[in-house]
Amino acid sequence: MDPTPQAIRAALTAPDPEPLFAEARAERFRSKGNGVFLRGLIELSNRCLRDCLYCGMRRSNPHPRRYALSDDDVLASARLARDLGFGTVVLQAGENAALWTRQRVSTLVRRIRSETGQRVTLSLGERAEADTAAWREAGAERYLLRFETSDLSLFRAIHPGAPAEGPHPRIGMLRRLRAQGYEIGSGIMLGIPGQTLDSVVRDLLLFRELHLDMIGLGPYLADPQTPLGADPAPSEVPVSVGFTCRCYALARLLCPWANIPSTTALSTLDPAEGRIRGLSSGANVFMPNLTPDACRADYRIYPGKICAVAPQADSMEALRADFAALGLVQCEG
Ligand code: 5AD
Repeated sequence: MDPTPQAIRAALTAPDPEPLFAEARAERFRSKGNGVFLRGLIELSNRCLRDCLYCGMRRSNPHPRRYALSDDDVLASARLARDLGFGTVVLQAGENAALWTRQRVSTLVRRIRSETGQRVTLSLGERAEADTAAWREAGAERYLLRFETSDLSLFRAIHPGAPAEGPHPRIGMLRRLRAQGYEIGSGIMLGIPGQTLDSVVRDLLLFRELHLDMIGLGPYLADPQTPLGADPAPSEVPVSVGFTCRCYALARLLCPWANIPSTTALSTLDPAEGRIRGLSSGANVFMPNLTPDACRADYRIYPGKICAVAPQADSMEALRADFAALGLVQCEG
């Protein structure tokens, strides 16, 4: 893959994407083998203090029932991840430094490490350097923070409270996390109103420049309970499985080393085929949802969010059937 804007743009718009998918599949086997890593996603809480214009969990949305897991709930989900042979849990929450304090998260990370042996990835939003330093010290190894778009004016338009001046706040935080010794993950939404194809080309090149360890990509799904979703505006970037998979393929070719999940948003857009199509265009990770059943539906980032594989035996069977169809196997780590 020629890492130039021209070549990337051409791949995003070529009439037939199949050669791109085939090349990404081949690169995936070359660089990552035939394993799929499973990461247990634990959604700690939807009590978010941010008001992002696109997100159903934004603090101004009166509709969701708000919840927060107890530490014991989180530990129970982490034990389930261990019992299912996953290796890693991802702790994700709406951004809330009052609820997920430095001390509380440090304690949780230490308990998960010592009581379950699972590795810990954090996805708790934009947080102070001293917080993430303490969590690294406690044993967290990876941090996920999507920059959503590298187009600064679009980023500011959809993130109330983002600094009006200066560089992209999330890109700055990603660099600090890297310096603290984290593996870093980031990514974008595809099809945000006002997003341009050229900005997606720049986003893809930025993944490579940041040398991201993990890349999360999903279609933007309009939520009528949000300002952006209630007032649909056009985007040059399609919200489609095909376009999302082209971006998976390009991420794989530009960053062969990266771990790339087939995301919940992709499966929500196409519940029957989304997961397998993601895995056949370069993705090598899947993140089953291990949030306790009673809260899962409340972690509603966008409408219709499928609860990507409840970890019951039957849905693990369906997951393994997809892997087998593609010549892949569940891999610990
Ligand atoms: N559609 C698709 N993805 C969304 N996210 C938030 N809101 C939406 C939406 N309406 C994604 C963002 C965020 C991640 C946790 O969920 O990229 O970083």
